[in-house]
Amino acid sequence: MVIYIKEISENVFEENGRLYTRNLVPGKRVYGEKLIEHKKMQLREWDANRSKLAAAILNGMSLMPIKDGSKVLYLGASAGTTPSHISDIVGSNGMVYCVEFAERVFRTVMDLSQDRKNIAPILADARKPELYNWIEECDIVYVDIADPQETELSIRNAMFLKYNGYMLIAVKARSIDVTKDPKQVFKEEKIKLQESDFKIADIIDLNPYEKDHAMILCKK
Ligand SMILES: C[S@@+](CC[C@H](N)C(=O)[O-])C[C@H]1O[C@@H](n2cnc3c(N)ncnc32)[C@H](O)[C@@H]1O
Repeated sequence: MVIYIKEISENVFEENGRLYTRNLVPGKRVYGEKLIEHKKMQLREWDANRSKLAAAILNGMSLMPIKDGSKVLYLGASAGTTPSHISDIVGSNGMVYCVEFAERVFRTVMDLSQDRKNIAPILADARKPELYNWIEECDIVYVDIADPQETELSIRNAMFLKYNGYMLIAVKARSIDVTKDPKQVFKEEKIKLQESDFKIADIIDLNPYEKDHAMILCKK
């Protein structure tokens, strides 16, 4: 069988339903992912079962706002799985400010930043954006923190967005209200954003990769 690899957005590749990003640090893996060579580049497989952004792309997100050179504020970096792929996408002219408040996983992001100079780890609580208000204005605010107040917190962190910047929020319905139908939760979060002057560009259901999750893509 002939398999074609195509670049579907800057530094993001697709081959037969699998995603890859162009490895910023050739030869290095971050979470045991497969590395392949393609046209003098090394690509890193991007596992959609471990990254909600990859799941959103495979489920047809209508536009990919993260590009080569983008500055990204990433809230809830955890051990750096998705941040590492964003680091590949934005490349050496971009920057990923990784906010995480759990010290154990934060150490992994610190290690990652040794090789990836475009990752800036920030040990802080995303509910207190004033703690990291020294960062530059960003093209993207990416939020994945599974908190009942996630949307409110995202709106507060939108203070870092450049004019025309995009916000991506990975919403876990069960973290917001376990008793409600996830579709109702997504609708309510969407309304909160609209009431704060955000325009919704897309809402992508992340099934089957992440049950009862959606990615909201919006713009101020
Ligand atoms: C679902 S995990 C993120 C997974 C990661 N985004 C990825 O795709 O690789 C959520 C992370 O958010 C962190 N978190 C939750 N609330 C936070 C807060 N208020 N400030 C900073 N980090 C927070 C948790 O410690 C956890 O590591």
